[in-house]
Amino acid sequence: MNPEQVQLVDHAIRSRHSVRAFLPTAIDPQIIKDILDVASRAPSGTNTQPWKVYVVTGKKRDEMINRVCQAQLEIYAHPEKASDYPETFAYYPEKWISPFIDRRRENGWGLYGLLNIQKGEKEKMAAQQLRNYKLFDAPVGLYFTVNQAMGVGSKMDISMMIQNVMVAAKARGLDTCPQAAWNHFHSIVLEVLGANDDEELVCTVALGYADPDDIVNTFITPREPVENFTVFLSE
Ligand SMILES: Cc1cc2nc3c(=O)[nH]c(=O)nc-3n(C[C@H](O)[C@H](O)[C@H](O)COP(=O)(O)O)c2cc1C
Repeated sequence: MNPEQVQLVDHAIRSRHSVRAFLPTAIDPQIIKDILDVASRAPSGTNTQPWKVYVVTGKKRDEMINRVCQAQLEIYAHPEKASDYPETFAYYPEKWISPFIDRRRENGWGLYGLLNIQKGEKEKMAAQQLRNYKLFDAPVGLYFTVNQAMGVGSKMDISMMIQNVMVAAKARGLDTCPQAAWNHFHSIVLEVLGANDDEELVCTVALGYADPDDIVNTFITPREPVENFTVFLSE
């Protein structure tokens, strides 16, 4: 690659960030197909390509949002109902440790601060959480599944594919938000998708054109410098 191409690749990677307010503008289906086509160049163990993607728009999107929002609202009214919606795999640890918990808190309060949500404002927090299940108003929901038979390695494979999707979307002027929030409601999601019994929901990605006027989209997260997470060994 020449230096200009390197710059373009770096720019697509660096400019990706999680967008949490989208315009209703529809996306040309061919663009979505192109994104998935290039994203499928992701590596996978022994080229198993264990990913499956559902592109959900229109009435199906509305049905998905309505069903899952209703379930979440029921949980707000009757918190004990949360146990009806267990995740199939634990994305987050049961017991948090530093420095991860500190970054998690910094992230959460940073976002809430921008949205003027203070500690204890449970209703405002719930409303923001509920926005997850409206895809932050994105016109497209991408639901990524793997076959349960493929084991934990397939989650690595599909994650690489998902990152490609997000970068390829960025290169086309689109934005994304990866969402683990939907995983609790996998039973509803898989039913609405008409998925097979052996499929497991791994992640959802909201896809659309970012709302440039919504303050939530100005939230840019920090990263540790390379020296803090890298060990260079030579002898
Ligand atoms: C697998 C995964 C699941 C995520 N789930 C959610 C989610 O449910 N809701 C949300 O608002 N953000 C979610 N995020 C976004 C993260 O909060 C975000 O990636 C992180 O704060 C770094 O910010 P950036 O993506 O803007 O660089 C998720 C990210 C990943 C990788």
